Amino acid sequence: MEALHRSFLDHLAQTSPHPLALDIVHAEGCLLTDRAGKQYLDLVAGLAVNNVGHRHPAVIAAIKEQCDHYLHVIPYGEFIQEPQVRFAERLTSILPSGLDNVYFVNSGTEAIEAALKLAKRITGRTGLVACHKSYHGSTHGSLSITGNETKKYRYRPLLPDVQFMTFGALADLELITEATAAVVVEPVQGDAGVRVPDPVWLKALRERCSTTGAMLVFDEVQTGFGRTGRTFAFERSGVIPDILVLGKALGGGLPMGAFVASRERMHLLTHDPVLGHITTFGGHPLPCVAGRAALEVLLKDDLSGNAERMGSLFKELLVHRTIQEVRGEGLMLAVDLGDANRVQRVVHACLKNGVLGFWFLSCPTAFRIAPPLTISEAQTRAACEVILAAILGTEGQQ
Ligand SMILES: Cc1ncc(COP(=O)(O)O)c(C=O)c1O
Repeated sequence: MEALHRSFLDHLAQTSPHPLALDIVHAEGCLLTDRAGKQYLDLVAGLAVNNVGHRHPAVIAAIKEQCDHYLHVIPYGEFIQEPQVRFAERLTSILPSGLDNVYFVNSGTEAIEAALKLAKRITGRTGLVACHKSYHGSTHGSLSITGNETKKYRYRPLLPDVQFMTFGALADLELITEATAAVVVEPVQGDAGVRVPDPVWLKALRERCSTTGAMLVFDEVQTGFGRTGRTFAFERSGVIPDILVLGKALGGGLPMGAFVASRERMHLLTHDPVLGHITTFGGHPLPCVAGRAALEVLLKDDLSGNAERMGSLFKELLVHRTIQEVRGEGLMLAVDLGDANRVQRVVHACLKNGVLGFWFLSCPTAFRIAPPLTISEAQTRAACEVILAAILGTEGQQ
């Protein structure tokens, strides 16, 4: 085994027994290049992060420019840092009026944690409602509202007062009551294997939260920034949350999370107790400038539109008797083969032939397609050819 690979296994904490261990030395657009010079068409985008493509020139230029001014200067919230202010201004300019105030943190899970705290502070309640098969992050609070028992059982006790409803089930909305502080929902479930809800359910969910006074929190960590063919997934149903949670593509390829609410509600974090949520690195100037540059590219180049078009093309081309379903919206897709072993073989065969796909946390029978939203028609067609050949090549194998 090569020395770097050995050292990777010896000195870096591992998260699974069999990491892919690709050794990438360069990334550009939708392509990854490994140390041996082999190229991969990236259908993962760093897990829904590189929405504007790897190393977009506008993002790189913004990062370089900021490096000439300052990096970290003070924990979040004390100084006026223009990159934070400008990014918050721009983000809220494309959000509905109740979502006009941004708190920047470092990751999706931290944003979820903080959103739970804000909902408790607003309502004075403790109850939390989330969905079966959801994924909201790996820290204790986020894990508590994650609907995947296999990820949780070793880490109990988790947060008390959490209930789970079935995603899309109207009857389960009864679980939301006057004791509920927050209802946390992915507007399209990601790691459940991409599940798109009926807008009727989302509207009923909104209504139930409004009647009971519970805060509706949309986790758009994965769905945000054009991934589903809209800038934000909630735009499709028109259902507006009280608190919007963002991450992944938010920082233009640099680590960042955020939660967005009304200024009045967010102001509660300033007193009783003072410093109600704090973070040293949240709102670091580099992800702020990178995220703002990426957002401008997303809007100017209508990458949501491209996601919609290329998503439809994937669905049109990926037809085979082994494919049970291609689910999803835009470029947030699950190819369901109905068989976990088959998925393993197909993903590995694709990798061998230069196409990187990936798995889901809670849906072993499907693999994900979530490329940069800049993917071209030619690249989409090429990816589908490789996937179909892989499916054909694994037919009859056990
Ligand atoms: C829907 C959703 N919420 C939250 C998270 C957690 O984000 P992070 O890994 O940045 O903590 C993820 C990560 O995959 C996610 O998909």
